[in-house]
Amino acid sequence: MKNEVRHAKFVPALLLAVAFFFPQTGRTQTPDKAPSAASDEQVTQQANRLLKQMSVEEKVGQLTQYFKLGPNRAMEKQISAGQVGSLLFVTDPEEINRLQKLAVEGSRLHIPLIFGLDVIHGFKTIFPVPIAMAASWDPAMIEKVQGVAAAEARSAGIHWTFGPMVDIARDPRWGRMVEGAGEDPYLGSAVARAQVRGFQGDHLGAPNHIVACAKHYAGYGAAEGGRDYDSSDISDDQLYNVYLPPFHSAVEAGTGTLMSAYMDLNGVPATGNRWLLHDVLREQWKFKGFVVSDANAVKSLEVHGFAKDAADAAVRALTAGVNMEMAFGDSPYAKHLAQALQDGRVTSTQIDDAVRPIVETKIRLGLFEHPYVDVSAAKQNWQDPEHKTAARIAGERSAVLLRNQANLLPLKAESYQRIAVIGPLADSKPDVTGSWAFAHDVNESVSVLAGLRDTVPKVEFNYAPGVQIARKIPSPFANVFGPKPSIPWTSAEAEAAMAKAVQLAKDSDAAIMVLGEAQEMSGESASRSMLELPGREEELLEAVVGTGKPVVLVLLNGRPLNIKWAEQHVPAILDAWYPGAQGGKAVAYLLFGKAVPGGKLPFTWPRTSGQVPIFLAHTTTHEPQNQGKRYWDEESTPLFPFGFGLSYTHFEYSNLLVKNPAVKKGAPVKLSVDVENTGDLAAEEVVQLYIHQKYGTSSRPVRELKGFERVSLAPHERKTIEFTLTPRDLTYWSSATHSWVEDAAPFDVWAGGDSTATIHSNFAVSQ
Ligand code: NOJ
Repeated sequence: MKNEVRHAKFVPALLLAVAFFFPQTGRTQTPDKAPSAASDEQVTQQANRLLKQMSVEEKVGQLTQYFKLGPNRAMEKQISAGQVGSLLFVTDPEEINRLQKLAVEGSRLHIPLIFGLDVIHGFKTIFPVPIAMAASWDPAMIEKVQGVAAAEARSAGIHWTFGPMVDIARDPRWGRMVEGAGEDPYLGSAVARAQVRGFQGDHLGAPNHIVACAKHYAGYGAAEGGRDYDSSDISDDQLYNVYLPPFHSAVEAGTGTLMSAYMDLNGVPATGNRWLLHDVLREQWKFKGFVVSDANAVKSLEVHGFAKDAADAAVRALTAGVNMEMAFGDSPYAKHLAQALQDGRVTSTQIDDAVRPIVETKIRLGLFEHPYVDVSAAKQNWQDPEHKTAARIAGERSAVLLRNQANLLPLKAESYQRIAVIGPLADSKPDVTGSWAFAHDVNESVSVLAGLRDTVPKVEFNYAPGVQIARKIPSPFANVFGPKPSIPWTSAEAEAAMAKAVQLAKDSDAAIMVLGEAQEMSGESASRSMLELPGREEELLEAVVGTGKPVVLVLLNGRPLNIKWAEQHVPAILDAWYPGAQGGKAVAYLLFGKAVPGGKLPFTWPRTSGQVPIFLAHTTTHEPQNQGKRYWDEESTPLFPFGFGLSYTHFEYSNLLVKNPAVKKGAPVKLSVDVENTGDLAAEEVVQLYIHQKYGTSSRPVRELKGFERVSLAPHERKTIEFTLTPRDLTYWSSATHSWVEDAAPFDVWAGGDSTATIHSNFAVSQ
């Protein structure tokens, strides 16, 4: 497990950040009227008293959640009749108060609505997308910014976010990799815990916080072929050791809710899967909150060839363990559960057990006492300038430097008069922001071009898009959330734009190219069959590099892309992801040395889509000496390994010490390693710890991440970082015994700045 030492020193250029991320006295937050935490028993008693008074229709009402995207008189009537438990997608506090009044003052039992929204990486202030935040390897920062997101949302009357997405993703063709923490269950679990704590605070109902929802339970990231919503077929070994741990961590961190996934898991829909929703979640993990279905996933049970009709779908989802149905339009729960009760297909106990945790959550949130929000306080909260600073710093801390030949970066402002800024994403506000931003004013986002101009006024930055990019098949959300699509150029216009960009590079002292995927190319319903740079971006890149001018490639992306050529020919590559609303500034600060990159890849970066899936924790198999030669047409190694990321300085590792190299099963192993900043620049490094169990009840992976710590180091400073491997870190689920095992076995251990770390030691666990 990662030790909990907090960094004492910081990069001087980031001094401003210190006040925000490591406050001395606690940050001022907008006052909230939430009550102090009541005991579990009191809450349950209160919920039971209410349950006794509720009609079947009112109970079923609590089990339904509807999208509210515009005026809807019929829905408002239902709310006043006490037949709606929750709404999603209302973001205006005045409208929230109005709708809440219908429930609280209009309905018989005055049960408030719980308002939900996808607050994924910010509400008004947009932070980097989740995969970016995971690349910071900085749980403290993640917790902090999700706390800001929670406070902003809560002040608007949002009580519940549909995040974090904790799905492990090992196939980057899957578009939703951008919403998670990447390939690794250890990193994924740490990020899951940080997000749950950030959203919820230290208890459910904490002031200025909202309820978290770990999603999509479970196995959604393993969609066959990376095709969104398609089935997942996951072995028990992979399920227990890889896909479930981040969910378990979210439950242990106290997540109030989970969302059931869309797809079939091993032939049984996740939303009708009693083993997942009951046996694992409730019996093994003792989860006490409630489960919401993904949107229309209950209805979909029919589509799967699982449920006979909508009534059967409602019964099977409820009895599997889905408490609340998220419905767009018709709700099988609302339509069929009352009748199913009459017909004896569900029992009143089953209905009550489904309703109780929903009502309990509303009680814990203090909604019965304080259902409304103070609109002026909300506006004040959103204007807090600290939030913007936090967004910029989060952008800086998430970026990963992939290449920096001859120390081209950081750029020295005095060495350049004119810099060409080239690429279709360079002057775009939505594309720094990323998807899943609804309540934010996109005009406030800072594009890369604007960030550069603002940060380095001495240099003249001239812009040319060079190419246009677009999805071949438009996003189904394009008309709902996305920016307006641009009118495609004619072929003459396209040739002229390409030529103009190349000419601009020739006329400049250097070029900064901003390429990658537009935000709607990544996310839900945004899977790809290939990982190439979209459209003619590759051609543009090669032409600009061909001018002989120094080129810096800035990538905006939510997944690894095929940058094989760039990795050989472009001197500097910075992966900025979708860095959030202050992303343009973050990029400018990084490129010009006002900030130093310290992020690391949260996934293995393939050379081509044909290598997918490729990930670190695979097992060694036949002829391991040929492990790098598994294909005859391509290397089998990745382009960049898991955990990789450069800095503007260098770090050296030494003295990997195992303090107790012979332990008995059940005992912790204590280790330390020294890390030294050998350069003249203060910077941060993510110290990573990997193990390999040499043999066991099951075959053991070549390497597994089991500890990390993001550390700040002054020039030439050396620090000793301590790690403790707990018995849980050495335990895994074995398909041989169908149980959790900790083997008596010898282990290798490595520490370093990425998963190819070479500093090595050993320890052994005995009976
Ligand atoms: C469907 C998505 O799969 C889920 O992640 C999201 O929370 C809901 N829609 C609500 O927007």
